[in-house]
Amino acid sequence: MNTAIIGTGYVGLTLSSLLARTGHRTYCIDVIPEKIDIIKTGKSYFYELGLDNLVKYGIDSGNLIPTLDYEEGLKDADVVFLCVGTPSGPDGGLDLTYIFDAVKKAAKYVKDGVIFVQRSTVPVGTGREAIRLMKEVNPDLKFTYLSCPEYLREGAAVLDSIIQDRVVIGGDDKKAAGKIFDLFEKIEKEAEEICSETPEISQYANAYMKNNNHKDTNFSDKCMVMCLESAELVKVCSNTFLAMKISFANNIARICDSVDANVNEVMDGVGMDRRINRSFLYAGLGFGGGCFPKDVKGLKKSLEEHNIDSEFVKMVWKVNEEQVEYVVEQMKKMDIKNGAKVGMLGLAFKPGTSDVRVSPACRLGKALAQAGFNITATDPQAIEDARKEFPEEDNLKYVDTVEEVFDGAQIVVLATDWPEFKELDFENLSRLMSSKNFYDARNCLDKEKMSKIFNFDNLGA
Ligand code: UDX
Repeated sequence: MNTAIIGTGYVGLTLSSLLARTGHRTYCIDVIPEKIDIIKTGKSYFYELGLDNLVKYGIDSGNLIPTLDYEEGLKDADVVFLCVGTPSGPDGGLDLTYIFDAVKKAAKYVKDGVIFVQRSTVPVGTGREAIRLMKEVNPDLKFTYLSCPEYLREGAAVLDSIIQDRVVIGGDDKKAAGKIFDLFEKIEKEAEEICSETPEISQYANAYMKNNNHKDTNFSDKCMVMCLESAELVKVCSNTFLAMKISFANNIARICDSVDANVNEVMDGVGMDRRINRSFLYAGLGFGGGCFPKDVKGLKKSLEEHNIDSEFVKMVWKVNEEQVEYVVEQMKKMDIKNGAKVGMLGLAFKPGTSDVRVSPACRLGKALAQAGFNITATDPQAIEDARKEFPEEDNLKYVDTVEEVFDGAQIVVLATDWPEFKELDFENLSRLMSSKNFYDARNCLDKEKMSKIFNFDNLGA
């Protein structure tokens, strides 16, 4: 099949290289020349585990064709996946400019019979508007429009795209939906082979497949077809529900701090209830990244547009907004002086990615700097992105080594729970500090061990 992907971000580039890997001639289209130039060299322009290998395979085999030219990329496509970004707009809703620009452009070049698949997260109602625009641009075009939202997590984008939890398709054309299911099933059938040739992901693949009951699940059991609007809502509701779990855990962390309970223990107990389950109940600095903040705000806006009370979603947002300030206040209770050097471990919004969009760690750095401290922060992957999105200031510096973070610091805070931070030789590093305070804002370090080295406190315990 000839496929084309518009947008080469986490969703688009991962999907295009997997389609290319499973034998489809696949164009990946973007409007930014620098991105296309890098992909042409057989690499991803952002860090994502295992992706470089797949992109290289696609380029070497000739199946993956990066291009800036919409006409070249779309004219022979049987299926077009729309994977462009939908950033938050100034009013809290999603900015759909890229989506609507892309569908209008695409409608000019695609051939009759094309299946158009919306993969980006969009507010409910976007599909109907996209169909209207396409018909306006090209009234004679015969096409099918489907919504098939992605659910991949950054850092696990490749594995999540090879083996999906569910494939939800919204639209009226069941036959077209079947063709999309086939594309994904083919990728999943080749899961073991693809994983084994990609060293960085092969080590996680077996556990992942076991967790997802890969071998025992029939692909068709996880496929669902529903109406366009329902599919659009499934995506934002899933993300808002997960965000709600996180805000719940963060809210409970505060009472745990007050009464000397431990939020991890509480959530272990709560999560044992299979109806609730333990995932996404880890208290920390709150959620960030390219999806949760945007989707929570987006759902709030959609509710308001339909005159439905959005208080419930607002609370999820409010707890998340407050969490960084809460951590600053907790840190101030420790033995640190005004203007002290604060070392910070982590900048990425979560481990395994270089992404700092709405990163709670970067927001913490800024908040501490505003509170008058001098921050020195490091991250295994995200320094470059942090320099762009949260520029350095006189009292906010990004450094390459953990030694520089600890050197002369009165307190060090763990802001992103990278596995490599958990393995640090804290005993030795503590000797570099001017005063041995440590705050674990992710509640992921062993309190007993850490308390032997530091004046130690952690969130929610
Ligand atoms: C999320 C969804 O998981 C994915 O399905 C969707 O399509 C895109 O958005 P992602 O943004 O990559 O994926 O990150 P995820 O791993 O879900 O974490 C989101 C944020 O929540 C991170 O900031 C993370 O640190 C935080 N988090 C997650 C918690 O604070 N506690 C938790 O228990 C889980």
